[in-house]
Amino acid sequence: MKNTLKGVGAALCVALPLLALSQGSARAAAQAADPALVQRGAYLAKVGDCVACHTAPKGKPFAGGLPMTTPMGQIYTTNITPDPNTGIGGYTEEDFARAMREGVAKDGHNLYPAMPYPSYAKVDDDDMKALYAYFMGGVAPVQQANREADIKWPLNMRWPLKFWNMVFLEKGAYQNKPGKDVAWNRGAYLIQGLGHCGSCHTPRGIAFQEKALDESGSAFLTGGLLDGWFAANLTGEHNVGLGRWNDQDLQAFLKTGANRHASAFGSMTSVINNSTQGLNDTDIAAMSTYLKSLPPAGGSGAPPYAYDPQATKVSLNRPANDAGARVYTAYCMHCHGVDGRGFAPMLAPLAGNPNVLEKDPSSLINVTLNGTQDLVIGGIPAPYPMPKYAPVLNDQQIADVLSFVRAGWNNGAPVVSAAEVAKLRKSTQAAR
Ligand code: HEC
Ligand code: HEC
Ligand code: HEC
Repeated sequence: MKNTLKGVGAALCVALPLLALSQGSARAAAQAADPALVQRGAYLAKVGDCVACHTAPKGKPFAGGLPMTTPMGQIYTTNITPDPNTGIGGYTEEDFARAMREGVAKDGHNLYPAMPYPSYAKVDDDDMKALYAYFMGGVAPVQQANREADIKWPLNMRWPLKFWNMVFLEKGAYQNKPGKDVAWNRGAYLIQGLGHCGSCHTPRGIAFQEKALDESGSAFLTGGLLDGWFAANLTGEHNVGLGRWNDQDLQAFLKTGANRHASAFGSMTSVINNSTQGLNDTDIAAMSTYLKSLPPAGGSGAPPYAYDPQATKVSLNRPANDAGARVYTAYCMHCHGVDGRGFAPMLAPLAGNPNVLEKDPSSLINVTLNGTQDLVIGGIPAPYPMPKYAPVLNDQQIADVLSFVRAGWNNGAPVVSAAEVAKLRKSTQAAR
């Protein structure tokens, strides 16, 4: 027994330096890559928002370690710096492309689809090459070992993911659609591919798969719940989607996180911070062209929203009769206004806001409990962040005020219950 171990040890002693050598040289070759290619890769990494997932809070960029919740348990993102031992320094371009498009790591294990490879599968060869050049030659190597997932046997077995891929993974890079112009196709490529917008904005099915990966599926971008945030409907739906947003509104939102209709919060904040605010005007315009082409889908079938100030004046004049109006006047009105119109774009309107009209109240509850503090545009933090009310208001008060806001100004959205607030209070506090 001892001898066998010794034998293995000796073999390892010989094999390891060889391995390190070959890994080092893969990196060295890539480091010699064209600086323009590395720079383009850096831009594409921004489109893909790799840093948002592959960086732990206060951690080194791309060194991994961010906890992510999946239906099976907590997993941790991995080190994608070019460190040869703990990162992806040993990956060839082929290995890298396989991880990105098929969700298979260099050693052959399947990645959990928390890594958005079903979207990245659409990235074309040129862009893949540039991304690889950037990760090998433009990112500083960090030695930081990966952390095992907190998923217990048998759910931690990765081989069933092969079957998942057979059913849900659509192979092949994005193909330009004939009859659509350059901007539309560019937008479709970015939104469906590197931008992986659908990983949050498309509802997921029973196996955690996105119900559609492009506009041919009716569920595509109709809104999805992930990690306690409901990512809004991005189709042309009038009330809960982008039907009332013009190109300018949409571009302003992606560039600055706010416009006359709404402000970014929750998991959208990091998308704006790390990704869309840094994209060039042509790409932002292309994204907007594509999104604005999506016909209305989803929504509750309620009549088209129209603002009505009267709808709320009555209860605000007699707040004693309405528990929600009482909370609103005391805690919310000075920022969001008597008329519910806020002071856009600094202070978001609540009247007619698609997030307020949405049937699923998760985002509203979450933002009221936990506030927002982290939108940073051009290095400058948002001046009037939404405060957190978890320490100030109880579940019933939050349910009351949100029900009030959802009924007010003709919003016409269903009430929120204290039980729904309690549930999110518990899950979001456990995650902290
Ligand atoms: C939504 C979160 C998310 C985003 C965005 C994301 N990743 Fe990942 N990625 C993950 C997770 C989680 C894993 C590990 C999955 C596992 O362990 O099964 C992973 C694994 C990987 C791996 C395999 C390496 C390894 O050892 O596990 C590579 C390569 C990778 N990501 C590259 C990228 C690149 C490049 C981008 C940007 C274009 C990116 N990722 C964006 C979540 C993400
Ligand atoms: C990590 C999850 C996540 C990803 C990825 C994501 N979003 Fe979002 N997005 C959200 C959430 C949550 C909201 C709702 C909160 C808000 O309005 O900011 C949202 C809101 C939005 C809104 C405002 C809609 C409204 O009615 O208020 C737009 C526009 C948007 N996202 C566009 C995009 C685009 C384009 C992409 C891809 C480049 C994208 N998002 C990727 C989570 C995400
Ligand atoms: C100090 C000013 C301030 C106060 C007080 C305030 N909010 Fe906000 N609220 C904001 C800002 C600013 C945003 C936009 C997100 C951001 O940039 O932080 C926002 C966003 C929201 C949103 C999400 C709408 C969207 O699409 O952006 C809801 C819902 C909301 N607030 C509800 C409330 C409720 C309910 C109260 C009272 C309990 C309240 N707010 C009190 C400043 C405030």
